[in-house]
Amino acid sequence: MSWLLKFWDSTVGKKVVMAVTGILLVGFVIAHMLGNLQMFLGADAMNKYAAFLKSTGELLWVARAGLFVAAVLHIISAVQLTMINRAARPTAYAKREPQVSTFASRTMRVGGIILAAFIIYHIGHFTVGSFHPAFSHTGVYGNVIIGFQSPWVVAFYVLAMASLGLHLFHGAWAGFRTLGLQKQSPTPLQRSLALGVALLVWAGFTVIPVAVLLGILN
Ligand code: HEM
Repeated sequence: MSWLLKFWDSTVGKKVVMAVTGILLVGFVIAHMLGNLQMFLGADAMNKYAAFLKSTGELLWVARAGLFVAAVLHIISAVQLTMINRAARPTAYAKREPQVSTFASRTMRVGGIILAAFIIYHIGHFTVGSFHPAFSHTGVYGNVIIGFQSPWVVAFYVLAMASLGLHLFHGAWAGFRTLGLQKQSPTPLQRSLALGVALLVWAGFTVIPVAVLLGILN
């Protein structure tokens, strides 16, 4: 047990925890995005899919618990690594001109905060049903249609999905490096892979609220 604590106490340990929990979260996000695309197959297909997920009973709770633990560990290691970084440079640069960082890497923290706020709102929106009176625990298709009637809600989702895309792009790339999968090359395959995953997830999620708002899904 003590080796585990020692590992967690090290910077490398926290980075590995971030990378491994990040991979689990990306896996969930891709599966969820593909599941959501069944909205385009109609109400029956979507509701049947949601009913199937709910019918897994205890397994669903195991998955929810795993997801929750992964998200908490991911956030705690991110906060602690940020604090370690800040402690290493107690006085900020007088003038800071980023040399090798990207927009995605510089927005990891603010993007992470937008995502955390989004997830809290999202669970109230579609799982608990706190925000609209017509919410039904069996009519997921209808919930999504009603849930995206407001342009403000759609705008919030679009912003959150853009944050998710940026977060995934930098996160997947950084994760490859932490786990030592990156080859030395100016345009490594892993960077294109990270970009591909980020674009796929961003587009796959964003298309749904936008399609509802435009009346393509109704
Ligand atoms: C346009 C984008 C999205 C749509 C339309 C959507 C739709 C839904 C719906 C309908 C549910 C309820 C499913 C059910 O009750 O069977 C749900 C649950 C959930 N979604 Fe999303 N989702 C979106 C994006 C996301 C993103 C980006 C994340 C995470 C980063 C996420 C995380 C979750 C979580 C954690 C749950 C709760 C799962 C559970 O405990 O059953 N969703 N989503």
